[in-house]
Amino acid sequence: MSDKATLIIDGQKYDFDMITGTENERCIDIQSLRDTTGCITMDPGFANTGSCYSSITYVDGAKGILRYRGYPIEEIAEKASFVEAAYLILYGELPKADQLKAFSARLKEHAPIHTNLEHHFSGFPKSAPPMAILSAMLNLISCFHPEVLEVPTTGAEFDRTASLLLSKVRTIAAFAYRMASGKPINHPNPHLTYCGNFLHMMFSDPYQEYEVSPVVDRALNLFLVLHADHEQNCSTSTVRVVGSSRANLFSSVAAGVCALWGPLHGGANAAVIKMLEDIRQSGRPASYYIDRAKDKNDPFRLMGFGHRVYKNFDPRSIILKKQVYNLLEALKLDDQLLEIALQLEEATLKDDYFISRNLYPNVDFYSGILLRAIGIPLNMYTVMFAIGRMPGWIANWKELHDHKLRISRPRQIYTGSRARTFVPMTER
Ligand code: ACO
Repeated sequence: MSDKATLIIDGQKYDFDMITGTENERCIDIQSLRDTTGCITMDPGFANTGSCYSSITYVDGAKGILRYRGYPIEEIAEKASFVEAAYLILYGELPKADQLKAFSARLKEHAPIHTNLEHHFSGFPKSAPPMAILSAMLNLISCFHPEVLEVPTTGAEFDRTASLLLSKVRTIAAFAYRMASGKPINHPNPHLTYCGNFLHMMFSDPYQEYEVSPVVDRALNLFLVLHADHEQNCSTSTVRVVGSSRANLFSSVAAGVCALWGPLHGGANAAVIKMLEDIRQSGRPASYYIDRAKDKNDPFRLMGFGHRVYKNFDPRSIILKKQVYNLLEALKLDDQLLEIALQLEEATLKDDYFISRNLYPNVDFYSGILLRAIGIPLNMYTVMFAIGRMPGWIANWKELHDHKLRISRPRQIYTGSRARTFVPMTER
C-alpha cells in the first residue's frame, strides 16, 4: 500500500503522508495542506474528518464492531460491571482485584456532595429539565473543589478527580430527580454498589428503603456499560473541543452534557419512548409513522433509527434488545411499547427506504424500554446516558491533554458580502 497520497491542484502535485491505524483504517495527513497549497478542506458534520489519534475505543461501522481498549462490547457487557468498564476505559487495562477495590473505595468516598451545593437544587424551577440541572451542577462542582481546576492528567490527583466526577454525577442526577418530584433527597449509602446506590438515591423513601434487586442492578450496569464510550461522537467531540482551550474537566463535561441533550444524539432515548407512546395512544399502524419518516416534506424521523457510523447494525442495540426481554420476563412485566417497537423494526427491515440508507435501530431504540422497566422516569433517560458516558468523556479529555493537542479551531469558507462602506443611520 502506498504511504503517500498525491493531490493535484491547478496541475501542481502535492504529496501527503498516509497514516494507518491499528485496525488498518487509513487516513491522509493533511496537516500541512493549507501551508503548502493555500487550500482547506470542506467537511460539514465532520463525517470524513479525523480529529485525533485515540487508543480508547474502536468502532467498525460496516461490521458492527465496538471495542473498549480492544475488548469486544459483547464480552464486556456480559462479564464486566460498569465500575470495571469505567476503570478499563480510564486506565487502558482491566483492573486487578486490588485496583478495583481501591477504585470502588474512591467512588464511595466521593459520592456525597457538598451541603452548600445541595442548596442550589432548590433554586431550579420544578419544571427544570434534569439535563439542564446536570450540566449546571457539574460546572458548579469546581466552585466547591477549586483544586480540580488545575487537574494533572496522571497520578493520584487525576485518580481522585476522575473518581470524584464519576461518583458525584450519579448523586447529582438522583438529587435533581428527587427535588423536581418534591421528594426529600436520599444521601448515598456507602454499603451499596455503584448502581445500587444510585437506585437507592432515586427511589428510597423515608419509611421505605428501596430494595435493590440483583436483576435490576445487573440491567442498569449493562445499560451504563453499553453507553460508556463511543469514540468521537457529538458530545465527546464537544468535550474535546472545550477541553482543547485548556478549560477544566468539569466545564468540559458540562458542555458534553449539553451536546448529548439533543434529540439527534442522547436525547433520542426519550424521543423514542414518546414516539412509541404516541403510536400506542393514536392506535395508528406502524406504517403511518414509517410513511411520515420517509416523507421529505415532513420533519418527522423514526427516532432510534440510523447512525452516522453503524451502517449494518449497532451491536449495542442487539445486546439491549436481548436484555429487555430478560428483564421484562424476570420482573414479570408486559410492555406494549416493546410490541410496537418490534413491529416498527420488522417493517423497516422490509422497507427499501430504510434498507437503501442503512437505517437500523441504534442504541437508543430499546434502551428506553429497559429504563421504563427499572422505573426511571422519562425526563431522566438522557441523564442516564450522561452517567454512562462519563468514563468516555473523562478518558477523552485526559487523552487530549496527554497528546498535548492544539486548540480546536476549524476554518470556514466565507460566503457573505465583500468589503463595503458603513452606511450612516440617516441614509439606510
Ligand atoms: N428516519 C428517517 N430517515 C432517516 C433517519 C430516521 N431516523 N435517519 C436518517 N434518515 C435519512 C435522512 O433523511 C437521509 O435521507 P436522504 O439521503 O434521502 O436525504 C439519510 O437517511 C441519511 O441521513 P443523515 O441525516 O444524513 O445521516 P447522519 O449520519 O447525518 O445522521 C442520525 C445520523 C443523526 C443518527 C440520524 O440517523 C437520525 O436523525 N436518527 C434519528 C435520531 C436518533 O436516533 N439519534 C440517536 C443516534 S445514536 C446516538 O447518538 C447515541
